Amino acid sequence: MIKATIAELPKYVDKEVKVGAWIANKRSSGKIAFLQLRDGSGFVQGVIVKSDVAEEVFQTAKSITQESSVYVTGTVQKDERSPFGYELLVTNIELIHTSTDYPITPKEHGTEFLMDNRHLWLRSKRQHAVMKVRNEIIRATYEFFNENGFVKVDPPILTGSAPEGTTELFATKYFEEDAYLSQSGQLYMEAAAMALGKVFSFGPTFRAEKSKTRRHLIEFWMIEPEMAFVEFDENLEVQEQYVSYVVQSVLKNCQLELNTLGRDVSKLEKITAPFPRISYDDAITFLHEKGFDDIEWGDDFGSPHETAIAESFDKPVFITHYPTKIKPFYMQPDPEREDVVLCADLIAPEGYGEIIGGSERIHDMDLLNKRVEEHQLDPETYKWYLELREYGSVPHSGFGLGLERTVAWITGVEHVRETIPFPRLLNRLYP
Ligand code: 4AD
Ligand code: MG
Repeated sequence: MIKATIAELPKYVDKEVKVGAWIANKRSSGKIAFLQLRDGSGFVQGVIVKSDVAEEVFQTAKSITQESSVYVTGTVQKDERSPFGYELLVTNIELIHTSTDYPITPKEHGTEFLMDNRHLWLRSKRQHAVMKVRNEIIRATYEFFNENGFVKVDPPILTGSAPEGTTELFATKYFEEDAYLSQSGQLYMEAAAMALGKVFSFGPTFRAEKSKTRRHLIEFWMIEPEMAFVEFDENLEVQEQYVSYVVQSVLKNCQLELNTLGRDVSKLEKITAPFPRISYDDAITFLHEKGFDDIEWGDDFGSPHETAIAESFDKPVFITHYPTKIKPFYMQPDPEREDVVLCADLIAPEGYGEIIGGSERIHDMDLLNKRVEEHQLDPETYKWYLELREYGSVPHSGFGLGLERTVAWITGVEHVRETIPFPRLLNRLYP
Protein backbone atom coordinates (compact mmCIF):
# COMPACT_ATOMS: atom_id res chain seq x y z
CA MET A 1 0.00 0.00 0.00
CA ILE A 2 1.30 3.47 -0.96
CA LYS A 3 1.28 5.97 1.91
CA ALA A 4 0.82 9.45 0.47
CA THR A 5 0.13 13.02 1.50
CA ILE A 6 -2.75 14.89 -0.10
CA ALA A 7 -0.34 17.08 -2.06
CA GLU A 8 1.18 13.94 -3.57
CA LEU A 9 -2.13 12.47 -4.78
CA PRO A 10 -1.80 13.76 -8.38
CA LYS A 11 1.11 11.30 -8.76
CA TYR A 12 -1.16 8.34 -7.98
CA VAL A 13 -4.20 8.65 -10.26
CA ASP A 14 -6.17 5.35 -10.34
CA LYS A 15 -3.93 3.90 -7.61
CA GLU A 16 -4.97 2.95 -4.10
CA VAL A 17 -3.28 5.02 -1.37
CA LYS A 18 -3.42 5.46 2.39
CA VAL A 19 -3.59 9.03 3.75
CA GLY A 20 -3.37 10.25 7.35
CA ALA A 21 -5.88 13.10 7.68
CA TRP A 22 -8.27 15.13 9.79
CA ILE A 23 -11.94 15.64 9.00
CA ALA A 24 -12.34 19.31 8.10
CA ASN A 25 -16.01 19.00 7.21
CA LYS A 26 -18.54 16.39 6.10
CA ARG A 27 -21.94 15.94 4.54
CA SER A 28 -23.87 12.82 3.76
CA SER A 29 -27.14 11.40 2.48
CA GLY A 30 -28.55 7.91 2.68
CA LYS A 31 -26.34 6.58 -0.10
CA ILE A 32 -23.23 8.70 -0.21
CA ALA A 33 -20.97 10.58 2.22
CA PHE A 34 -18.44 13.31 1.48
CA LEU A 35 -15.53 13.92 3.84
CA GLN A 36 -13.47 17.07 3.47
CA LEU A 37 -10.02 15.72 4.36
CA ARG A 38 -7.00 17.81 5.31
CA ASP A 39 -3.51 16.67 6.23
CA GLY A 40 -1.50 19.92 6.28
CA SER A 41 -0.20 19.38 2.76
CA GLY A 42 -3.62 20.12 1.29
CA PHE A 43 -7.36 19.49 1.20
CA VAL A 44 -9.17 16.76 -0.73
CA GLN A 45 -12.70 15.43 -0.84
CA GLY A 46 -13.16 11.78 0.13
CA VAL A 47 -16.23 10.12 -1.38
CA ILE A 48 -17.81 7.10 0.34
CA VAL A 49 -20.43 5.25 -1.67
CA LYS A 50 -22.58 3.10 0.63
CA SER A 51 -23.05 0.29 -1.87
CA ASP A 52 -19.30 0.02 -2.51
CA VAL A 53 -17.93 -0.24 1.05
CA ALA A 54 -18.48 -2.33 4.16
CA GLU A 55 -21.48 -1.11 6.18
CA GLU A 56 -19.28 -0.11 9.14
CA VAL A 57 -17.10 2.09 6.92
CA PHE A 58 -20.18 3.99 5.72
CA GLN A 59 -21.44 4.31 9.29
CA THR A 60 -18.05 5.70 10.42
CA ALA A 61 -18.18 8.25 7.61
CA LYS A 62 -21.69 9.30 8.62
CA SER A 63 -21.02 9.63 12.34
CA ILE A 64 -17.44 10.93 12.35
CA THR A 65 -16.96 14.31 14.04
CA GLN A 66 -15.14 17.40 12.76
CA GLU A 67 -11.35 17.29 13.38
CA SER A 68 -11.30 13.57 14.19
CA SER A 69 -8.12 11.98 12.90
CA VAL A 70 -8.13 9.01 10.54
CA TYR A 71 -6.21 6.87 8.14
CA VAL A 72 -8.21 6.79 4.94
CA THR A 73 -7.63 4.30 2.16
CA GLY A 74 -8.95 5.02 -1.30
CA THR A 75 -8.38 5.31 -5.02
CA VAL A 76 -7.20 8.64 -6.43
CA GLN A 77 -9.44 10.02 -9.16
CA LYS A 78 -9.26 13.07 -11.34
CA ASP A 79 -12.10 15.46 -10.60
CA GLU A 80 -12.54 18.47 -12.84
CA ARG A 81 -15.07 20.12 -10.51
CA SER A 82 -12.83 20.42 -7.46
CA PRO A 83 -10.31 23.28 -7.25
CA PHE A 84 -7.65 20.70 -6.32
CA GLY A 85 -8.49 18.61 -9.40
CA TYR A 86 -8.59 15.23 -7.60
CA GLU A 87 -10.73 13.28 -5.18
CA LEU A 88 -10.38 10.10 -3.20
CA LEU A 89 -12.85 7.25 -3.69
CA VAL A 90 -12.69 5.86 -0.18
CA THR A 91 -12.60 2.13 0.50
CA ASN A 92 -11.70 2.12 4.19
CA ILE A 93 -11.51 4.46 7.21
CA GLU A 94 -9.47 3.70 10.33
CA LEU A 95 -10.43 6.03 13.13
CA ILE A 96 -7.35 7.20 15.10
CA HIS A 97 -8.92 9.71 17.48
CA THR A 98 -12.44 11.04 17.89
CA SER A 99 -12.59 14.80 18.37
CA THR A 100 -15.41 16.23 20.46
CA ASP A 101 -17.06 19.66 20.34
CA TYR A 102 -14.52 21.31 18.08
CA PRO A 103 -15.13 25.01 18.71
CA ILE A 104 -14.54 26.33 15.18
CA THR A 105 -17.47 25.16 13.10
CA PRO A 106 -18.04 25.98 9.43
CA LYS A 107 -20.36 28.83 10.48
CA GLU A 108 -19.18 32.45 10.96
CA HIS A 109 -17.29 33.37 14.13
CA GLY A 110 -16.27 36.74 15.57
CA THR A 111 -12.66 37.90 15.34
CA GLU A 112 -11.95 37.82 19.09
CA PHE A 113 -13.27 34.26 19.33
CA LEU A 114 -11.09 33.19 16.41
CA MET A 115 -8.06 34.95 17.90
CA ASP A 116 -8.63 33.22 21.25
CA ASN A 117 -8.63 29.97 19.30
CA ARG A 118 -5.70 30.84 17.07
CA HIS A 119 -4.02 27.50 17.88
CA LEU A 120 -7.02 25.78 16.22
CA TRP A 121 -8.02 28.48 13.74
CA LEU A 122 -4.71 27.84 11.96
CA ARG A 123 -6.22 24.57 10.70
CA SER A 124 -8.85 26.33 8.58
CA LYS A 125 -8.54 26.35 4.82
CA ARG A 126 -8.10 30.11 4.62
CA GLN A 127 -5.43 30.28 7.33
CA HIS A 128 -3.68 27.31 5.78
CA ALA A 129 -3.57 29.17 2.45
CA VAL A 130 -2.16 32.33 4.08
CA MET A 131 0.59 30.34 5.84
CA LYS A 132 1.51 28.59 2.58
CA VAL A 133 1.85 31.94 0.81
CA ARG A 134 3.94 33.24 3.73
CA ASN A 135 6.20 30.23 3.34
CA GLU A 136 6.51 30.82 -0.42
CA ILE A 137 7.51 34.46 0.17
CA ILE A 138 10.23 33.30 2.57
CA ARG A 139 11.40 30.60 0.16
CA ALA A 140 11.53 33.04 -2.77
CA THR A 141 13.37 35.56 -0.57
CA TYR A 142 16.18 33.10 0.17
CA GLU A 143 16.27 32.09 -3.48
CA PHE A 144 16.44 35.68 -4.75
CA PHE A 145 19.21 36.78 -2.42
CA ASN A 146 21.26 33.62 -2.76
CA GLU A 147 21.06 33.81 -6.56
CA ASN A 148 22.19 37.44 -6.46
CA GLY A 149 25.33 36.96 -4.41
CA PHE A 150 24.03 37.86 -0.95
CA VAL A 151 25.13 36.04 2.20
CA LYS A 152 22.57 35.35 4.94
CA VAL A 153 23.74 36.86 8.23
CA ASP A 154 21.88 36.59 11.54
CA PRO A 155 21.98 39.73 13.69
CA PRO A 156 21.37 39.41 17.45
CA ILE A 157 17.89 39.67 19.00
CA LEU A 158 19.15 40.91 22.37
CA THR A 159 20.83 44.25 21.83
CA GLY A 160 22.27 47.20 23.68
CA SER A 161 21.33 49.86 21.10
CA ALA A 162 18.24 51.12 19.31
CA PRO A 163 18.38 51.85 15.57
CA GLU A 164 14.80 53.10 15.06
CA GLY A 165 14.40 55.57 17.91
CA THR A 166 14.29 55.00 21.61
CA THR A 167 10.57 55.30 22.34
CA GLU A 168 9.32 51.93 21.09
CA LEU A 169 11.78 49.64 22.82
CA PHE A 170 11.08 46.48 24.73
CA ALA A 171 13.49 46.69 27.62
CA THR A 172 14.73 43.68 29.51
CA LYS A 173 17.61 42.80 31.78
CA TYR A 174 20.79 41.22 30.47
CA PHE A 175 22.03 40.03 33.83
CA GLU A 176 23.05 43.36 35.44
CA GLU A 177 22.87 45.42 32.24
CA ASP A 178 19.93 46.99 30.41
CA ALA A 179 19.10 45.33 27.11
CA TYR A 180 16.47 45.67 24.40
CA LEU A 181 14.74 43.32 22.01
CA SER A 182 15.88 44.15 18.48
CA GLN A 183 13.81 46.69 16.53
CA SER A 184 15.90 46.10 13.43
CA GLY A 185 19.12 44.24 12.68
CA GLN A 186 20.31 47.05 10.44
CA LEU A 187 23.30 48.36 12.42
CA TYR A 188 24.72 44.84 12.67
CA MET A 189 23.98 44.22 8.99
CA GLU A 190 26.05 47.31 8.14
CA ALA A 191 28.98 45.76 9.98
CA ALA A 192 28.34 42.46 8.17
CA ALA A 193 28.23 44.22 4.76
CA MET A 194 31.74 45.57 5.43
CA ALA A 195 32.85 41.97 5.92
CA LEU A 196 30.77 40.11 3.30
CA GLY A 197 29.74 42.74 0.73
CA LYS A 198 26.08 41.91 0.15
CA VAL A 199 24.18 40.43 3.08
CA PHE A 200 20.59 39.80 4.12
CA SER A 201 18.91 38.82 7.34
CA PHE A 202 15.53 37.37 8.19
CA GLY A 203 14.39 37.47 11.76
CA PRO A 204 11.91 38.68 14.37
CA THR A 205 11.86 42.33 15.38
CA PHE A 206 9.96 44.02 18.20
CA ARG A 207 8.27 47.37 18.55
CA ALA A 208 6.47 48.46 21.68
CA GLU A 209 4.12 50.57 19.56
CA LYS A 210 0.82 51.53 21.07
CA SER A 211 -0.74 51.30 17.58
CA LYS A 212 -3.84 49.22 17.14
CA THR A 213 -4.22 49.20 13.37
CA ARG A 214 -4.52 46.54 10.71
CA ARG A 215 -0.86 47.13 9.79
CA HIS A 216 0.82 46.94 13.19
CA LEU A 217 2.20 43.99 15.09
CA ILE A 218 4.28 44.16 18.25
CA GLU A 219 6.45 41.30 17.01
CA PHE A 220 6.99 41.05 13.27
CA TRP A 221 9.52 39.50 10.91
CA MET A 222 11.79 41.57 8.76
CA ILE A 223 14.05 40.87 5.78
CA GLU A 224 17.00 43.26 5.90
CA PRO A 225 19.49 43.37 3.03
CA GLU A 226 22.55 45.61 3.29
CA MET A 227 25.04 46.29 0.48
CA ALA A 228 28.53 47.81 0.43
CA PHE A 229 29.39 50.12 -2.50
CA VAL A 230 25.67 50.44 -3.33
CA GLU A 231 24.16 53.92 -3.56
CA PHE A 232 20.65 55.26 -3.32
CA ASP A 233 19.35 54.49 -6.86
CA GLU A 234 20.91 51.04 -7.00
CA ASN A 235 19.24 50.24 -3.68
CA LEU A 236 15.80 50.98 -5.19
CA GLU A 237 16.57 48.75 -8.16
CA VAL A 238 17.34 45.81 -5.86
CA GLN A 239 14.07 46.43 -4.00
CA GLU A 240 11.88 46.47 -7.11
CA GLN A 241 13.62 43.38 -8.49
CA TYR A 242 13.20 41.56 -5.18
CA VAL A 243 9.54 42.47 -4.62
CA SER A 244 8.53 41.55 -8.17
CA TYR A 245 10.44 38.27 -7.89
CA VAL A 246 8.52 37.39 -4.74
CA VAL A 247 5.12 38.29 -6.23
CA GLN A 248 5.81 36.34 -9.43
CA SER A 249 6.98 33.31 -7.39
CA VAL A 250 3.75 33.33 -5.38
CA LEU A 251 1.70 33.59 -8.58
CA LYS A 252 3.56 30.62 -10.01
CA ASN A 253 3.68 28.36 -6.95
CA CYS A 254 0.56 29.24 -4.94
CA GLN A 255 -2.26 29.20 -7.49
CA LEU A 256 -4.46 26.98 -5.35
CA GLU A 257 -3.94 29.12 -2.25
CA LEU A 258 -4.62 32.41 -4.07
CA ASN A 259 -7.77 30.81 -5.45
CA THR A 260 -8.85 29.67 -1.95
CA LEU A 261 -8.33 33.25 -0.75
CA GLY A 262 -10.29 34.69 -3.67
CA ARG A 263 -7.33 36.93 -4.55
CA ASP A 264 -7.66 38.98 -7.73
CA VAL A 265 -4.48 37.73 -9.40
CA SER A 266 -4.75 40.18 -12.32
CA LYS A 267 -3.63 42.86 -9.83
CA LEU A 268 -0.57 40.80 -8.86
CA GLU A 269 0.34 39.99 -12.46
CA LYS A 270 1.05 43.70 -13.00
CA ILE A 271 3.76 43.72 -10.31
CA THR A 272 6.92 43.85 -12.41
CA ALA A 273 9.97 46.11 -12.14
CA PRO A 274 10.47 49.04 -12.47
CA PHE A 275 8.21 50.66 -9.87
CA PRO A 276 7.19 54.34 -9.98
CA ARG A 277 9.02 56.89 -7.81
CA ILE A 278 7.63 60.09 -6.34
CA SER A 279 9.54 62.52 -4.14
CA TYR A 280 8.24 63.51 -0.72
CA ASP A 281 7.91 67.10 -2.01
CA ASP A 282 5.73 65.99 -4.93
CA ALA A 283 3.75 63.71 -2.64
CA ILE A 284 2.91 66.71 -0.42
CA THR A 285 1.80 68.73 -3.45
CA PHE A 286 -0.25 65.79 -4.69
CA LEU A 287 -1.95 65.41 -1.28
CA HIS A 288 -2.79 69.11 -1.16
CA GLU A 289 -4.34 68.82 -4.62
CA LYS A 290 -6.39 65.88 -3.35
CA GLY A 291 -7.72 68.06 -0.56
CA PHE A 292 -5.64 66.81 2.39
CA ASP A 293 -5.29 70.06 4.36
CA ASP A 294 -4.09 68.23 7.47
CA ILE A 295 -0.56 67.70 6.22
CA GLU A 296 2.35 70.12 5.80
CA TRP A 297 5.91 69.76 4.54
CA GLY A 298 7.84 68.15 7.40
CA ASP A 299 5.02 65.92 8.66
CA ASP A 300 5.17 62.16 8.42
CA PHE A 301 2.50 60.45 6.35
CA GLY A 302 -0.33 58.59 8.01
CA SER A 303 -2.06 55.64 6.39
CA PRO A 304 -4.79 57.73 4.68
CA HIS A 305 -2.03 59.74 2.97
CA GLU A 306 -0.12 56.63 1.92
CA THR A 307 -3.31 55.06 0.61
CA ALA A 308 -4.23 58.16 -1.40
CA ILE A 309 -0.79 58.18 -3.05
CA ALA A 310 -0.81 54.43 -3.70
CA GLU A 311 -4.24 54.63 -5.35
CA SER A 312 -2.76 56.50 -8.30
CA PHE A 313 -0.59 53.50 -9.21
CA ASP A 314 -1.19 49.82 -9.85
CA LYS A 315 2.33 48.93 -8.73
CA PRO A 316 4.07 49.62 -5.44
CA VAL A 317 5.38 53.20 -5.37
CA PHE A 318 8.60 54.56 -3.86
CA ILE A 319 8.24 57.79 -1.91
CA THR A 320 11.75 59.23 -1.82
CA HIS A 321 13.71 62.05 -0.14
CA TYR A 322 11.83 62.50 3.13
CA PRO A 323 12.71 65.42 5.42
CA THR A 324 15.84 64.70 7.42
CA LYS A 325 14.18 65.63 10.70
CA ILE A 326 11.53 62.85 10.56
CA LYS A 327 13.94 60.04 9.69
CA PRO A 328 16.50 58.08 11.78
CA PHE A 329 20.00 59.38 12.52
CA TYR A 330 21.88 57.09 10.12
CA MET A 331 20.40 58.27 6.80
CA GLN A 332 22.65 59.96 4.21
CA PRO A 333 21.56 63.53 3.40
CA ASP A 334 20.93 64.45 -0.22
CA PRO A 335 24.24 66.08 -1.34
CA GLU A 336 22.23 68.80 -3.08
CA ARG A 337 19.85 69.47 -0.21
CA GLU A 338 20.62 69.11 3.48
CA ASP A 339 16.96 69.08 4.51
CA VAL A 340 16.10 65.74 2.86
CA VAL A 341 17.71 62.30 3.03
CA LEU A 342 18.48 59.62 0.43
CA CYS A 343 15.75 57.30 1.60
CA ALA A 344 12.64 55.67 0.23
CA ASP A 345 9.58 53.97 1.61
CA LEU A 346 7.89 51.49 -0.69
CA ILE A 347 4.10 51.75 -0.48
CA ALA A 348 2.10 48.70 -1.56
CA PRO A 349 -0.98 49.08 -3.77
CA GLU A 350 -4.57 48.55 -2.60
CA GLY A 351 -4.12 50.33 0.73
CA TYR A 352 -1.65 47.92 2.34
CA GLY A 353 0.71 50.74 3.25
CA GLU A 354 4.47 50.85 3.69
CA ILE A 355 6.12 47.48 3.14
CA ILE A 356 9.75 48.66 2.89
CA GLY A 357 11.79 51.35 4.58
CA GLY A 358 15.32 51.85 3.30
CA SER A 359 18.09 54.34 2.64
CA GLU A 360 21.68 55.06 1.84
CA ARG A 361 23.61 55.24 5.14
CA ILE A 362 25.96 57.98 6.29
CA HIS A 363 29.52 56.83 5.67
CA ASP A 364 31.30 60.01 6.75
CA MET A 365 32.54 59.76 10.34
CA ASP A 366 32.20 63.46 11.22
CA LEU A 367 28.66 63.70 9.92
CA LEU A 368 27.60 60.52 11.72
CA ASN A 369 29.11 61.78 14.98
CA LYS A 370 27.18 65.00 14.56
CA ARG A 371 23.92 63.10 14.01
CA VAL A 372 24.47 60.90 17.07
CA GLU A 373 24.84 64.07 19.09
CA GLU A 374 21.79 65.77 17.54
CA HIS A 375 19.66 62.70 18.25
CA GLN A 376 20.98 62.62 21.83
CA LEU A 377 22.23 59.08 21.47
CA ASP A 378 24.94 57.76 23.75
CA PRO A 379 28.21 57.64 21.70
CA GLU A 380 29.50 54.86 23.99
CA THR A 381 26.62 52.56 23.00
CA TYR A 382 27.21 53.28 19.31
CA LYS A 383 31.02 53.16 19.52
CA TRP A 384 31.32 49.95 17.51
CA TYR A 385 28.89 51.27 14.86
CA LEU A 386 30.79 54.54 14.52
CA GLU A 387 34.04 52.63 14.20
CA LEU A 388 32.80 51.11 10.93
CA ARG A 389 33.44 54.60 9.49
CA GLU A 390 37.04 54.58 10.63
CA TYR A 391 38.40 51.66 8.63
CA GLY A 392 37.80 51.97 4.90
CA SER A 393 34.35 53.54 5.08
CA VAL A 394 32.32 53.11 1.86
CA PRO A 395 28.94 54.26 0.54
CA HIS A 396 26.41 51.59 1.42
CA SER A 397 22.67 51.14 1.43
CA GLY A 398 20.03 48.74 2.61
CA PHE A 399 16.40 48.27 3.44
CA GLY A 400 13.94 46.37 5.60
CA LEU A 401 10.85 44.60 4.23
CA GLY A 402 8.10 43.81 6.72
CA LEU A 403 7.06 40.24 6.02
CA GLU A 404 3.55 40.38 7.48
CA ARG A 405 2.49 43.48 5.59
CA THR A 406 3.83 41.90 2.42
CA VAL A 407 1.89 38.69 3.12
CA ALA A 408 -1.27 40.75 3.76
CA TRP A 409 -0.89 42.57 0.46
CA ILE A 410 -0.10 39.50 -1.66
CA THR A 411 -2.86 37.36 -0.11
CA GLY A 412 -5.35 40.23 -0.03
CA VAL A 413 -5.98 39.60 3.68
CA GLU A 414 -7.30 42.70 5.43
CA HIS A 415 -5.40 42.55 8.75
CA VAL A 416 -1.81 41.53 9.58
CA ARG A 417 -3.06 39.40 12.50
CA GLU A 418 -3.88 36.65 9.98
CA THR A 419 -0.44 36.72 8.34
CA ILE A 420 1.67 35.38 11.24
CA PRO A 421 0.95 32.09 13.04
CA PHE A 422 0.70 33.58 16.54
CA PRO A 423 0.31 37.37 16.34
CA ARG A 424 1.52 39.54 19.21
CA LEU A 425 -0.87 42.48 19.32
CA LEU A 426 -1.36 45.38 21.69
CA ASN A 427 -3.79 43.44 23.86
CA ARG A 428 -2.80 39.88 23.04
CA LEU A 429 0.02 37.65 24.22
CA TYR A 430 -2.02 34.39 24.06
CA PRO A 431 -2.21 31.85 22.62
O1 4AD B 1 10.61 51.45 8.25
P1 4AD B 1 11.24 50.61 9.33
O2 4AD B 1 11.08 51.05 10.72
O3 4AD B 1 12.77 50.48 8.91
C1 4AD B 1 13.76 49.90 9.64
O4 4AD B 1 13.62 49.28 10.68
C2 4AD B 1 15.10 49.94 8.96
N1 4AD B 1 16.15 49.85 10.00
C3 4AD B 1 15.19 48.80 7.98
C4 4AD B 1 16.51 48.79 7.24
O5 4AD B 1 16.78 49.73 6.51
N2 4AD B 1 17.28 47.74 7.41
O6 4AD B 1 10.65 49.12 9.20
C5 4AD B 1 10.80 48.40 8.00
C6 4AD B 1 9.49 47.73 7.62
C7 4AD B 1 8.33 48.67 7.37
O7 4AD B 1 8.36 49.19 6.07
C8 4AD B 1 7.14 47.76 7.59
O8 4AD B 1 6.90 46.94 6.45
C9 4AD B 1 7.62 46.87 8.70
O9 4AD B 1 9.03 46.91 8.70
N3 4AD B 1 7.11 47.29 10.01
C10 4AD B 1 6.10 46.69 10.65
N4 4AD B 1 5.33 45.64 10.33
C11 4AD B 1 4.38 45.24 11.21
N5 4AD B 1 4.16 45.85 12.38
C12 4AD B 1 4.92 46.92 12.77
N6 4AD B 1 4.71 47.49 13.95
C13 4AD B 1 5.94 47.39 11.88
N7 4AD B 1 6.86 48.38 11.93
C14 4AD B 1 7.56 48.31 10.78
MG1 MG C 1 9.37 53.05 8.01
